[in-house]
Amino acid sequence: MANAAVRSSALFGGHGRAIVSAMSERLIDIVAVPDHPGTARWQAVTPPGLVAGTAGLRPIIPFEHGLLLPGPVAQPGAAELSLYVEPPWRRRGIGSRLLEAAVAHAARQRLVAEVAAGSAGEEFCVRHGFRHTGSGSHELLTYCDVHHAWLGELIDVEHPGYRLSHWTGDLSGATRVEELLRRPSSPGNAVLSAAQADGDLVAYALAAVGAAPRRRARQYGPAVLTAHRGRRLGLWVNAALIQRLREIHPHIDEIETRTVEDDPGLLALRQHLGFRQLRRTRLYELALP
Ligand SMILES: CC(C)(COP(=O)(O)OP(=O)(O)OC[C@H]1O[C@@H](n2cnc3c(N)ncnc32)[C@H](O)[C@@H]1OP(=O)(O)O)[C@@H](O)C(=O)NCCC(=O)NCCS
Repeated sequence: MANAAVRSSALFGGHGRAIVSAMSERLIDIVAVPDHPGTARWQAVTPPGLVAGTAGLRPIIPFEHGLLLPGPVAQPGAAELSLYVEPPWRRRGIGSRLLEAAVAHAARQRLVAEVAAGSAGEEFCVRHGFRHTGSGSHELLTYCDVHHAWLGELIDVEHPGYRLSHWTGDLSGATRVEELLRRPSSPGNAVLSAAQADGDLVAYALAAVGAAPRRRARQYGPAVLTAHRGRRLGLWVNAALIQRLREIHPHIDEIETRTVEDDPGLLALRQHLGFRQLRRTRLYELALP
């Protein structure tokens, strides 16, 4: 695709370059591509069949925006938008056309986009009427940095009155963590580690795994009920999750997670476990009629 742009300008130069690039932009097709059930993807394809950009929509599982302990059930109908245009093809309206395809598909939903702070993505969101809703940070834990004996010691620490439990299965249709714990464990894309007191859920950390060959899992939490904070339950369930995830999905070698920036306690906990910051981000939302 970069070669196509270079070839055009080399052939025509000067004013010819503008004409050729305008022509090639018009010839770019936005095509839907099959993906996993529940997700939608589009590609901007140039006449020789090269991909100049991509867009994707993925349903937001309720656990990731507002952890459900014990908060209200997350609003249904939110999808996460991902959008990428190859650098040589930017500022030619391709991102806007990809967004148009996603918007047409996602009627009556909220589109949520997470973009790097101060980036073109932010300008693009503002230009398209997205509302700024918050800031965040992305962190990554790599299994080769994990000291497994130390992790085991964290998990073995006694927490009198609390019991650690695990669940694995598919997240489909679930809106609350309690629901997952009531389901029998089965093979699936999610792993949950939870702390319970008198049979009630009080803390959890959850990871979702994409289809192979994706080697990076996404973590949500840890979240701890307010009345049970200050007892290192967050560290406990998160350490347990890191260990459990690797046992069940040995192909996973990284865990990515996000933190809302005004939660220094959560950031510190994750740093303690070995997560390092990847980037600062800003969250934008577009409510569709
Ligand atoms: C953000 C991105 C998808 C935009 O793609 P694009 O094809 O360049 O977007 P468009 O040409 O349709 O731009 C539409 C408008 O957005 C705004 N915009 C886009 N890039 C901009 C930039 N670098 N600086 C300022 N405004 C910008 C402008 O208002 C632009 O209209 P204009 O060119 O008439 O001024 C692309 O820069 C990209 O892939 N960035 C990296 C990934 C990313 O940030 N994704 C965002 C997820 S929502």
